[in-house]
Amino acid sequence: NEIKIFTPATIANVSCGFDVLGLALDTVGDEMIIKKVTQKGIRITKIIGQKLPLETHNNVAGVAALALLDEIDCEFGFEIEITKKIKPGSGIGSSAASSAGAVWAINKLLEQPFSNLDLVRFAMEGERLASGVAHADNVAPALFGGFTLVRSYKPLDIIRIHTPKELYATIIHPQIEVKTSDARNILKTTVTLKDAIKQWGNVGGLISGLYTEDYDLIGRSLEDHIVEPIRSILIPAFNLVKQQSLTAGALGCGISGSGPSIFALSKGKETALKVAEAMKLVYNKVGIDYDIHISKV
Ligand code: HSE
Repeated sequence: NEIKIFTPATIANVSCGFDVLGLALDTVGDEMIIKKVTQKGIRITKIIGQKLPLETHNNVAGVAALALLDEIDCEFGFEIEITKKIKPGSGIGSSAASSAGAVWAINKLLEQPFSNLDLVRFAMEGERLASGVAHADNVAPALFGGFTLVRSYKPLDIIRIHTPKELYATIIHPQIEVKTSDARNILKTTVTLKDAIKQWGNVGGLISGLYTEDYDLIGRSLEDHIVEPIRSILIPAFNLVKQQSLTAGALGCGISGSGPSIFALSKGKETALKVAEAMKLVYNKVGIDYDIHISKV
């Protein structure tokens, strides 16, 4: 009647796939304890590590859980306790981890009446609360694991993508907060055909590279001609961090989700560690505080 889970941080967009591509991190994430109780409804009993709303309707995990309960006749309720290790506004799917974790655990305690795709749909309601838009590119990998592609939003169609064995992510989080809603509001609503051609070429290349474990192709495809040029101005020393990461051997480097975290993908842990050193050096030099994570994808 009680379950304790790890719910992963995620990198959305992965450069070329704005709102459609995402990946889950193996070792960076939150912990949650979900209890089945006799009192109906959802209660957030405790949040450790961050100041976040406890009212069910104002909490992303609460809203996602309510969306699930809305579709089932349930004789009992659930209490949720969250230990936040992912900082909100860091760009590695803090709200997605809470939303996805809540619905995954409740589904488990109910003996799994819902599919993973249903759970994505419920967790997206948490994302709607957090950012104003029910995007699925963080919650899908959080629930499915590895790399995922949102092939379509209407109807919702999520494809699980093969993840190469030696792929590692390095993520540096400059200690500023960027709200996803703000980072979305600055984007243009139209794309030129010229940019679209480059972008869908890269999405196809990345997917192919992931399946064939062609690390060079993965690297060549990690480009973003649409969102990064606009959003990178919000991120301290973005170009320098990117340049130094690539010099240190990263396959590619870009903005994690809506930022300000910057991610790099590398082949092998050793390179991922070198990339971390290169990133740190940049922020140490310009005097910016940061958190850094390395994780298998
Ligand atoms: N695709 C979303 C965005 C992810 O870039 O706004 C937010 O984490």
